[in-house]
Amino acid sequence: MNEGELLSRVDKSKLPRHVAIIMDGNGRWASGRGLLRSAGHSAGVKTLKKILTTAVNLKLEALTVYAFSTENWKRPLAEVDFLMHLFSEYLEREKREMHEKNVRIRFLGRTEDFSPLIQSQMRDAVELMKNNTGVKFNIAADYGGQDEIIRAAQKLARRVASGEMPAENIDAAVFESELDTAGQPPVDLLIRTSGDMRLSNFLLWQAAYAEFWFTKTPWPEFTPEEFIDALIDFGKRARRFGGVT
Ligand code: FPP
Repeated sequence: MNEGELLSRVDKSKLPRHVAIIMDGNGRWASGRGLLRSAGHSAGVKTLKKILTTAVNLKLEALTVYAFSTENWKRPLAEVDFLMHLFSEYLEREKREMHEKNVRIRFLGRTEDFSPLIQSQMRDAVELMKNNTGVKFNIAADYGGQDEIIRAAQKLARRVASGEMPAENIDAAVFESELDTAGQPPVDLLIRTSGDMRLSNFLLWQAAYAEFWFTKTPWPEFTPEEFIDALIDFGKRARRFGGVT
């Protein structure tokens, strides 16, 4: 099926505003083929490119992907180094095309532990795309949901301590304004590939009322077709947000 036929399967009025993806299974996919885990991550980047293109074509409002968690530093040094190299290469290679597609990039998470080169590539990419009005594409890198909430709490505590506002002013909206996703809609649909059914410290606040969609397909084999299946399935869900229909 070509991209046009694929997109025509979707009822645009029932699309999620914000989709988040845990791109899991690169390592197992590669090992299962007798390849190095790094080959799985390289294949994963190709999948990411296709899924971002589909998100652009569908005019999704926001897409967030989990590229590197605060816990991923515990992986063998060679794998961490490879992921860093891939990340750097990806930003350098893809930023022009993303910009042409009107994508607006943002990074969620800490940035200070990345190399100076990667930190400057991240800043350059954000700067290049800062006035774009298309898909808000968030890459969670050195990201943990608990860490993000702690950082937000620290920022709020500082604002209260400085006398800028009383503690009673902190409500959900004020709290959200200090999260890495400030100004973006909550996650409507959370997709996780490769069979595990857990949140793994991803977008703990933002996914409070997210619909979940799990697939056994490993990330390198995830396709725009399956992405669209998930979006169509989302359109059939009855969302009550704690209320009644
Ligand atoms: C999970 O697979 C994937 C990751 C930890 C990294 C995801 C990274 C990419 C898709 C490529 C790099 C991203 C960018 C933005 C350049 P896993 O290694 O946990 O697989 P496993 O569960 O099978 O071991």
